[in-house]
Amino acid sequence: MKLKRILKKEAKLKRIKRFSALIFLLVFIIIILRSLLPSRHKRNKLDEPTKEIEETLPVIEPELPTTVDTHENSNYDIYLSENWHKHSGEIKKTLSEAKVLDIEPMKDFLLRNKKQAIFSGSVFKVTLEGGIQAVFKTTSDGKMVRDRMEETAYDFSVYTNLAYVPPTVHRTLECDFNKNGHVQKKSGFLSLFVDTEFDLLKYTKEKFYALLSKISEDELCNYKTFNFVFGNWDVGPHNVLVAKDGTKENPHYHLIAIDNEGMANLQKVQYGKVPFVRWLTCPGAGRNVRDFPFDQAKTSDKASRQAIANRFNQWPPGRKHNYSLFGGAYWTQYTDFWWGAESNTTDLLYPERLTETAKEKLKNLTKENLLALIAQSNDITDFMKARVDGFIERRDMLFKHFSIT
Ligand SMILES: Nc1ncnc2c1ncn2[C@@H]1O[C@H](COP(=O)(O)OP(=O)(O)OP(=O)(O)O)[C@@H](O)[C@H]1O
Ligand SMILES: [Mg+2]
Repeated sequence: MKLKRILKKEAKLKRIKRFSALIFLLVFIIIILRSLLPSRHKRNKLDEPTKEIEETLPVIEPELPTTVDTHENSNYDIYLSENWHKHSGEIKKTLSEAKVLDIEPMKDFLLRNKKQAIFSGSVFKVTLEGGIQAVFKTTSDGKMVRDRMEETAYDFSVYTNLAYVPPTVHRTLECDFNKNGHVQKKSGFLSLFVDTEFDLLKYTKEKFYALLSKISEDELCNYKTFNFVFGNWDVGPHNVLVAKDGTKENPHYHLIAIDNEGMANLQKVQYGKVPFVRWLTCPGAGRNVRDFPFDQAKTSDKASRQAIANRFNQWPPGRKHNYSLFGGAYWTQYTDFWWGAESNTTDLLYPERLTETAKEKLKNLTKENLLALIAQSNDITDFMKARVDGFIERRDMLFKHFSIT
């Protein structure tokens, strides 16, 4: 009986020992595991290499509103149209030199901002160093003259003070234009981006003209004068922006002329009518066109379109229009305007009167000073000389119309 009790006691002791050893083992395993796993506090801390990378990354600033000029040397608002004429040299320098930080197709930008995106060209929205917002447009066929004409249009606007054209320079960019990892080099022109709340392509003609009536009469007259003299014939809601500044109580509206490359087309005009624009040429077509046969213009039809396509190797516009074959070229009286031929915007080419600014500036226009202005961004070729002859011819026509001597 005694032995039985002793054996029972020993068995109990053994069980206790085994249990203690198990507990000890468990505690030991837990201690080992804890030392291997980083503590909660430790996990939230950056390990050294990661910290180094984070410190070298640039601090991302919130996107700046486009109406604030962030260019370090400027103490004026670069987006205010009235500053474009005052600070032209500096703004052009910025546009020529600032690095591109971001670029995307203009259509993507407009659609994302719930705006109409109706245009045919290769246009991109650009963010430059310092947050400056710009627009880059490139011509696929490499017609550099047209790109440079856009810069010249801006220089004309500054020189004459007759219109607001966004500051523009010609420039070559090497970028991932379509954000698809494919870097390309493209030449074109870079203009300042004009932020506008008015999506004119949604407007009816009535609504468009109602908005234009908010622009000062002088500014509107000067804009029309500018278009007429420099041959900016492709006018309408598709090639103009309306900028609003001033205060809430006293807002100012300004017309901003974009897409001014129509100036590069030779054209002939009878005052008050739709211009004839030289559209298709055969090799050797002359530029010095005199005595344009306005009264012999014909109306296009299927047969004449086919004949023109055969002769010039290119189709003329599809819409019914007046045309003239003259001086080895096909000239179209282009009437395919935004709201249709019957509702055209030709009136934007003909001022109701000449303002004092216009009179003074236009009197001082000479072939020499126009060529000097053009030479700032273009080669002076026969092409350019022929355009200048056209500018002077239309200036003289305007003076004659308003009996200014
Ligand atoms: N300076 C600018 N500021 C703001 N938006 C601009 C500017 N220039 C162009 N845009 C935008 O890009 C669009 C296309 O520009 P633009 O008219 O110059 O191109 P386009 O392809 O030559 O036009 P079109 O089809 O008339 O030939 C405009 O409708 C406008 O929305
Ligand atoms: Mg356009």
